[in-house]
Amino acid sequence: MTETRTIRWEQDETGIVTLVLDDPDQSANTMNQAFKDSIAAIADRAEAEKDSIRGIVYTSAKKTFFAGGDLKDMIRLRPEDAGLAFETGTAIKRSLRRIETLGVPVVAAINGAALGGGYEICLASHHRIALDAPGSKIGLPEVTLGLLPAGGGVTRTVRLMGIADALLKVLLQGTQYTPQRALDNGLVHELAATPEEMLAKARAFIDANPESKQPWDVPGYKIPGGTPSNPRFAANLPAFPANLKKQLNGAPYPAPRNILACAVEGAQVDFETALTIEARYFTELVTGQTAKNMIQAFFFDLQAVNAGRSRPQGVAPRQVRKVAVLGAGMMGAGIAYSCARAGIEVVLKDVTAEAAAKGKAYSEKLLDKALSRGRTTEAKRAELLARITPTADAADLAGCDAVIEAVFEDTALKHRVFQEVQDVIAPDALLCSNTSTLPISGLAEGVKRPADFIGLHFFSPVDKMPLVEIIKGERTGDEAIARAFDLVRQINKTPIVVNDSRGFFTSRVIGQFINEGVAMVGEGVEPASVEQAAAQAGYPAKVLSLMDELTLTLPRKIRNETRKAFEAEGRTWTEHPADTVIDRMVDEFGRPGRSGGGFYEYDETGRRTRIWPGLREHFAKPDASIPFEDMKERMLFAEALDTVRCLDEGVLTSIADANIGSIMGIGFPAWTGGVIQYINGYEGGPAGFVARARELAATYGERFTPPASLVAKAERGETYTD
Ligand code: NAI
Repeated sequence: MTETRTIRWEQDETGIVTLVLDDPDQSANTMNQAFKDSIAAIADRAEAEKDSIRGIVYTSAKKTFFAGGDLKDMIRLRPEDAGLAFETGTAIKRSLRRIETLGVPVVAAINGAALGGGYEICLASHHRIALDAPGSKIGLPEVTLGLLPAGGGVTRTVRLMGIADALLKVLLQGTQYTPQRALDNGLVHELAATPEEMLAKARAFIDANPESKQPWDVPGYKIPGGTPSNPRFAANLPAFPANLKKQLNGAPYPAPRNILACAVEGAQVDFETALTIEARYFTELVTGQTAKNMIQAFFFDLQAVNAGRSRPQGVAPRQVRKVAVLGAGMMGAGIAYSCARAGIEVVLKDVTAEAAAKGKAYSEKLLDKALSRGRTTEAKRAELLARITPTADAADLAGCDAVIEAVFEDTALKHRVFQEVQDVIAPDALLCSNTSTLPISGLAEGVKRPADFIGLHFFSPVDKMPLVEIIKGERTGDEAIARAFDLVRQINKTPIVVNDSRGFFTSRVIGQFINEGVAMVGEGVEPASVEQAAAQAGYPAKVLSLMDELTLTLPRKIRNETRKAFEAEGRTWTEHPADTVIDRMVDEFGRPGRSGGGFYEYDETGRRTRIWPGLREHFAKPDASIPFEDMKERMLFAEALDTVRCLDEGVLTSIADANIGSIMGIGFPAWTGGVIQYINGYEGGPAGFVARARELAATYGERFTPPASLVAKAERGETYTD
């Protein structure tokens, strides 16, 4: 019999076998080769000793129940490895199926997070009991990595809850549920407050259900809600592609399409055939490029970024206890909420007590909404609000160990507010500015301790946006960078670290996307096609509507300042074709964006109604024809090329920061794996990207000429890595 290296077999005197998942070589259990061998050996033994077994309980000796597929293995798979991928998945599934159909009750005692392959083990159990542990998550998030759950996840969820619920609640969004919400949505049968209670409940289930079987193994079983051949189901079917379309905006995400097809096809055949269909669709995904991109970004890069890849080494970690937020406007109010949510005391200061109170009221609004949706409790709401003290009095900031400034975007005002508070707060307090455009080194000139001064660029809306861009000024010390990093982690956000530069990394690069869209309007392209191209490239925001949100006066202001700075430094300044369009919109047509109307029209409530018809009249040329593929790639390439320049100039020092910052901060399409992974994963790799950039440069302008560093990398046959 083969060794069961990653699973311990513990049998009690009553005949209950506990299978303790405990990979000795890793901190979490994964579906690696050792697991594949172990679970096969366990199935052999269970079949051989069946007569002495009264029930089986899966549980784990790790903090998490089971982490899922082994992504290190998966990311290496090439199209030619399809056979291997198919075989590995099939082998694990076969073993789980043998245990599931042994004829004894099988229970999952879910002691911690059970995501992906972890939850699939639970699905192959007759009864699922989750320990209600804080931070524990349950679900099938494969779609978020460009994959589908191929350990029986599609086949079993479809049979457990019906195609509609399986797709919408579990498979297509990859929702990760808390144990309570997993119970509410039918992913688990019961909760337990302690590990002892969980195991007692498992034993009780086995005692009470000696003949237990999966619903789908009971003769006469029918999929809840029907199958595609059933009229009731058929009536619902048209809703799926629409829903999918909405979710995807027509962008190139193969996983949801495969999941949909797999669920629908699998529902019409027997269980074993459905498992094979699942393996085929999975194999196609795992050997393709999108899954590699998404695994790289959402697993490896994100982990590296959050673990502190860009945090200076050797600085002891520190926690903030009390933070001063200066300015209770849109950003300040959101920052105050995010800090209070993480347990930090917040003093929220504005010029008047009313303005400060209004900023706190924003937290009340968010909490009321959370309460009405059952996402928080009265007690937690009260606790969080009690942590926010609104004030107009600088004296209330005594003892604050960090300051985050979010007053109007004005250097003199920002200098003044720091002067007002710097002698009141803790003598070594961290000094942060949430400026979106002003150079950090210049702002640092207004404080007594420039080494402790740093940029902390939040994104709007702060409570939802997961990224914070940390900006080092010329005089910022390592200690401040590390403390800023720790603060961002403390409030459960993801920090990227960049060097001071106009627009830092995020604003500068997203500006290229917007400029490209606006330039196409100037070339006479139908505005609706420009928006459609952005959507089909996978951008979450439409490009012209985004420009309106930011207002057209903002790029003009930035452009003027940048041009002045360039001239002062003796660098050549090149106009972007978007500049003329923006100038005409503002000067000739009086359309500065948002409230005053811009590329779109708005009603009295500020709601966007339609694209401004004047755009067609003044800009559209009926004979303008740009291939759709070029339109999409111009936006993607403009951002990728400027990111390479950010690396060249030292604005960025990490590839992982670039990828994560671009997806989580500025909506670069997730299917690419981020702005630099887009170059790595482009057809033909960086060399293919360079060739295509040269084509775009020849047709659309010098700005697409690939930088020398990229050309050299492509010639060496390398990809970008940290
Ligand atoms: P806002 O106009 O909503 O709020 C600014 C607040 O600062 C107002 O409540 C104002 O009363 C207060 N304030 C003015 N002088 C003050 C003083 N002496 N002491 C205390 N409070 C004072 O502006 P918003 O949008 O919140 O922006 C704030 C900062 O955040 C700006 O630097 C902006 O560039 C930056 N930012 C804005 C983003 C956005 O999407 N709006 C994104 C990232 C950064």
